[in-house]
Amino acid sequence: MGRQSIITIDGPAGAGKSTAAKRLARAMGFHYLDSGALYRAVAWETLRRRVDVQDSAALSAFFADFKPHIAFDEAGFRVLIDGREVAQELRTPEVSQASSRVAAVPQVRRWVTACLRNLARNRGVVAEGRDMGTVVFPEAEVKFFLTADLATRAARRRDEWQSGQIGIDLEGTMRELATRDRQDETRTVSPLKAPVGAIHIDTTSMTPEEVTSACLAVIRDALARTG
Ligand code: DC
Repeated sequence: MGRQSIITIDGPAGAGKSTAAKRLARAMGFHYLDSGALYRAVAWETLRRRVDVQDSAALSAFFADFKPHIAFDEAGFRVLIDGREVAQELRTPEVSQASSRVAAVPQVRRWVTACLRNLARNRGVVAEGRDMGTVVFPEAEVKFFLTADLATRAARRRDEWQSGQIGIDLEGTMRELATRDRQDETRTVSPLKAPVGAIHIDTTSMTPEEVTSACLAVIRDALARTG
């Protein structure tokens, strides 16, 4: 596996993808790609500019003029719009729901897919999302599919929100995630599903360290086989 290898991590929200992807990217000196952040950026900006994402002409006009700057390396993935970093703004429950809705629009998926492939050109990447191993990088050397039970995923998400001072209760978070899972799994274009050949890891009772070690063991194994 060389410097330009691609590792993908797919799975539902709260399964531990971001933590694992960042840790793996750091361990391997690869760049980290957060595809969800791009869907969230489109959701945030179309909400702000009141663009109707179902109106394809309006969406084309939006994309003609939407040029976020992406700063990414092994430590993080940052989106800057009009020169300003948007981070917490992208993580609110409202933007989470809107991102799942805009992600069902083929034009939006084409924009995000092109953007990710462009960012991955000539470098090693760890890419996380819902269709990384199935659609965006089907050629990836190693594919992971992470899952965890709903209550665990909701508790992780709530803890993240609370550390960012976005207050929300566990039941509300479970409802939000269940709605998003349903939307992400049942949409017609690139629905969330496990890629063929992916290594499945249920992270429900695993620590981030354990998930990272399990993934690294699989990657080392693949490395040994491919030389
Ligand atoms: O990973 P996340 O929670 O930041 O993703 C936000 C939403 O974006 C998610 O509900 C569905 C969508 N998404 C997608 O459809 N495909 C991806 N590869 C990544 C995210």
